[in-house]
Amino acid sequence: SSIMKGGYDHYMQKEIHEQPDSIQQTMRGRVDFQSAADKASSKRVDPSWDPYHEKRITLGGLVDHYRTIKRGRRVMFVACGTSFHACLACRQTMEELAELPVTLELASDLLDRQAPIFRDDMCVFVSQSGETADTLKALEYAKARGALCIGITNTVGSAIARSTHCGVHINAGCEIGVASTKAYTSQMVALTMMALALSEDSIRLRARRNEVINALGMLPEHIREVLKLDSQMLELAEELKTEQSLLVFGRGYNYATALEAALKVKEVALMHSEGLLAGEMKHGPLALVDEHLPIIVLATRDRMYAKMLSVVQQLLARGARLIIVCNAGDTDIRETAASRNCRLIEVPLTEECLQPIVNIVPLQLLSYHLTVLRGYNVDQPRNLAKSVTVS
Ligand code: G6P
Repeated sequence: SSIMKGGYDHYMQKEIHEQPDSIQQTMRGRVDFQSAADKASSKRVDPSWDPYHEKRITLGGLVDHYRTIKRGRRVMFVACGTSFHACLACRQTMEELAELPVTLELASDLLDRQAPIFRDDMCVFVSQSGETADTLKALEYAKARGALCIGITNTVGSAIARSTHCGVHINAGCEIGVASTKAYTSQMVALTMMALALSEDSIRLRARRNEVINALGMLPEHIREVLKLDSQMLELAEELKTEQSLLVFGRGYNYATALEAALKVKEVALMHSEGLLAGEMKHGPLALVDEHLPIIVLATRDRMYAKMLSVVQQLLARGARLIIVCNAGDTDIRETAASRNCRLIEVPLTEECLQPIVNIVPLQLLSYHLTVLRGYNVDQPRNLAKSVTVS
């Protein structure tokens, strides 16, 4: 089994470090980083000069359905656990590029409510295993109501892959650690590709699409870069390993990052952790803040940056102990945090809708090291299963 782990101590560790490669696999043959215009123009014009040249996304399992999806009344994402967080992270991208209203459903809650679903709903079922009972039941429920059902899974031939009308395989490779890591980042890449594919006929969005596609091309390199924070995350884990609790604040694209980081910390490191929407901070969580409770704040440069900087200032004004995830070389954050009870985790800058894919990686490493230092089973946390096939 140490051969299976490719020299790593645990599958979770191996799978975290595989991510530059696994996300490359998710994009392979699907993202055309070179546009048709580049190919034709015999490289005389720098492609970055012309923002209107076209770049294409080819999703074989979905291409016949783009038009139907675009004509739908709404997109509904349905998932459980980490897969749900991937949906949350990509909701805004889908709204922005596909220009459709997007709702999110935890599969169990959708079933509990017996929520209304209609023939013109486009339901997207996201599941690493493709076998999760709640997600599968929600799929049967939606199918019976005549919705178009789209699967996003990591398992060819799985129950969800077989029962959906169309879909996208994320091709992240087999994931063995119970806590999902590489499947999460590949799900976000797949959902982003889907949003891009659905915006293909919009001329107005073309420049924006090209920016996102270019950033996708850089993503493996950015993940490679952020993985270099491993020893720094081990140090941070040493510092946090005896804590009772850890809060994580994010908003916008990175609300999902906050929830997912907290889920990782609770499910593998068995430490209480909560991911919180920073916009709700003053409606309750602020009461918990003191100089002892460690708080991770996601403050990378996106359209929420100014608001997150103000969150940092409000927390510091109350003497909070902060760990700030920011972009490399952010002098505003450095100045704000200087000479305080603060630690910085500096990550490479990417397109804002892809920043959650970069930001989660150091926090995966942190939860991994916390687990090892606290002496718990990394790959099989107590009471949990990789694929929950009963509901
Ligand atoms: C279980 C696993 C989680 C996973 C969730 C959904 O709870 O422990 O890691 O996120 O199921 O699994 P799925 O295979 O549907 O993505």
